[in-house]
Amino acid sequence: MSHEPVTLLAIETSCDETAAAVVAETGDPARPWLLRSNVVASQDAIHREWGGVVPELASRQHLRDICGVVDRALEQASVTWTDLGAVAVTQGPGLVGSLLVGVSFAKSIAWSCGIPLVPVHHLAGHIESLVLQHGELPLPSAVLVVSGGHTSLYLVRERGRYELIGRTRDDAAGEAYDKVARLLGLGYPGGPIIDRLAKDGNDRAYLFPVSRMTHADRNRPTATAPPGLLPPDLERSVDFSFSGLKTAVMRLVKDLEARGGSREPGGVGGTVAPRASRLAPRDVADIAASFQRVVVEALLDRTFETARWLGARSLGIAGGVSANSRLRAEAETRGAKAGLPVFVPPLSLSTDNAAMIGAAGLRRLRAGVTATWDLNAEASLPL
Ligand code: KG4
Ligand code: ZN
Repeated sequence: MSHEPVTLLAIETSCDETAAAVVAETGDPARPWLLRSNVVASQDAIHREWGGVVPELASRQHLRDICGVVDRALEQASVTWTDLGAVAVTQGPGLVGSLLVGVSFAKSIAWSCGIPLVPVHHLAGHIESLVLQHGELPLPSAVLVVSGGHTSLYLVRERGRYELIGRTRDDAAGEAYDKVARLLGLGYPGGPIIDRLAKDGNDRAYLFPVSRMTHADRNRPTATAPPGLLPPDLERSVDFSFSGLKTAVMRLVKDLEARGGSREPGGVGGTVAPRASRLAPRDVADIAASFQRVVVEALLDRTFETARWLGARSLGIAGGVSANSRLRAEAETRGAKAGLPVFVPPLSLSTDNAAMIGAAGLRRLRAGVTATWDLNAEASLPL
């Protein structure tokens, strides 16, 4: 490295976790970053009552938590303000009120310490969580980012450049998990609960449909991948869709409930709170397992097929849903069979955190990207 290694403070507040981390450069090009601390204050308990994230409550809670979370991140890394060489912050996409707390806080720190501020795209963070954990990936790499807000497949041919190849046309996979969990009367976030219940269920009890976007209709949208990268039939079918699956689960639940008894649904009458399910625990476990099988198949079929076409030398899966036990296990098995190395983050870096923002921030800092003081939070931001 021709420059002094930088120690960077990263802040992430795009949704419902207030997070701060300290990440340092190592000087080793193969393993460029070292995680010194990673602090996350989760708001799950607050939003659980409502069955999903309430934006206004989220921004207020970020305000309450941010000072303590940043203090703890510095303390756990044994660094002080004067050790910091830069501050990175999630600029977007996300909830604008939540993002604003992080952006304003990061700006104030950078300005008062006289150090550069680096704006980071949330999904670049998820992708770079893989490098933070495993070192630089063999390129080209196909990386699936699968979270509560996104299901997007990227091709990484050059470090720090992410080309969108496929995406969901409707719900994100994590969103489908959360919505199905609500239909089943389970808590929020639904992903980890369905993951756990699915272990005791029969994954072939219900054969839910896997939607495949063929775009054979008159209104077919333009392909997501840049022209010429994939063969035309694959280019048109690489996108994901999960809303049909969610509807199929909803119909089944209604059907089973109609057949199965007259207990009144629970929950806070008429509000958005998750209602108690009238289904037998066995049915809930079977639906969870059958739903999960189909989601994992849909995600991995397309990702592996596309990776093969693109001549990828590695395959990554990041984002909250990458914590899923079945997705991890099957990705591993398929990778071993295909001779393709598969990378997933550790559980602590799968769901939202600031360590990944620190990694992506150091990547951008070294590419010469810094923000001006008029940096604003962006609810939707292209990568
Ligand atoms: O990346 P993330 O923390 O936030 C977003 O950027 O959206 O992802 C949160 C999503 C939620 O939808 C949650 O249900 C899902 O990740 N999730 C899981 C698991 N753990 C978290 N989905 C399936 N299985 C899991 N074990
Ligand atoms: Zn995320």
